[in-house]
Amino acid sequence: MAAALLVAAVLCLELGSGAVAHQLSEDYYDCTCPDAYTIVKRVLLEAHKSDVRIYASLIRLHFHDCFVQGCDGSLLLDGVPGVINSEKGAPPNNGSARGFPVVDAAKAALEAACPGVVSCADILALASEISVDLSGGPKWGVLLGRLDGKTADFNGASNLPSPFDNLTMLERKFKAVRLDNVDLVTLSGAHTFGRVQCRLVTGRLYNFSGTNRPDPTLDAGYRAFLSQRCPRNGNGSVLNDLDPTTPDTFDKNYYDNLEVNRGFLNSDQELKSAQQAQGVTAPIVDRFARSQDDFFASFAQSMINMGNIMPLTDPTKGEIRKNCRKVNGS
Ligand code: HEM
Repeated sequence: MAAALLVAAVLCLELGSGAVAHQLSEDYYDCTCPDAYTIVKRVLLEAHKSDVRIYASLIRLHFHDCFVQGCDGSLLLDGVPGVINSEKGAPPNNGSARGFPVVDAAKAALEAACPGVVSCADILALASEISVDLSGGPKWGVLLGRLDGKTADFNGASNLPSPFDNLTMLERKFKAVRLDNVDLVTLSGAHTFGRVQCRLVTGRLYNFSGTNRPDPTLDAGYRAFLSQRCPRNGNGSVLNDLDPTTPDTFDKNYYDNLEVNRGFLNSDQELKSAQQAQGVTAPIVDRFARSQDDFFASFAQSMINMGNIMPLTDPTKGEIRKNCRKVNGS
């Protein structure tokens, strides 16, 4: 009995210590921080009391983290002149990415319970699953054990998938991180909740591709609605629901919207309406519009795929940050 306990304790010391290169696993913190999931969930529930948008904002942080040099918490680093050119200042994030204080709160709670154990990159992965679950979406087994990187990549962050990208460019940017068209259509389904600024749709409303005309793939009723909210030369930072049917619920309505030309972003509607989408991504949109179960199962898998982008597990290259905003010792 004592020997078994000793073996378990030694295993625990080795597992989750980040001292050796390892594979991501669901049980990575079972020994070293068994309450990690519950702790993050508690912080998210608290934050949600004063910010209904927070769940959407957090999953977007994981996306923006993973697409830039892998899921390594690089997005969370604040700028340090001459050392860290923060990804937070890159156009897709600047004045847009939000939720950082909640990540700090989760980190602080985890550090209090199990100091130096849970990486900031893993906090984003956990927060994403918890956020989707709490919004009515699927659950999945989050793979854990990522280390935090020590660098940021401003240029990489500037080249994230853009709302103005056409389908070919979106496919290319997903392929570059080994995600396929099913992942592209599935993960875009995260636009079933959260908010979006007017400035990202005014081109579609008033001057699509330099035509001085609206985007023909935008439903006329929805265009009238959005034109009221986002007048020409109005305040570009006014917020809109990405999914006006159920703004804070994680469901398949994003795809129902695309079916009736009510996607908000150009990059959303492209998946269904682009010439190149026919026979490629459009059928996937159709499938998810028909079945929420199909969408949920696919979303769980694609989130795991996204979380597996270039996992940083080599302890000579990564660390468990004490403060998500700073490299240790800096
Ligand atoms: C396919 C390429 C994608 C593009 C071009 C894109 C673009 C955008 C843009 C422009 C916004 C609004 C930003 C703002 O108004 O400040 C947004 C919001 C959002 N995106 Fe995406 N996105 C993409 C994929 C994803 C993925 C893969 C996820 C997560 C799995 C995601 C989750 C979200 C969420 C939840 C919001 C709302 C955030 C909030 O309310 O704070 N997006 N996205």
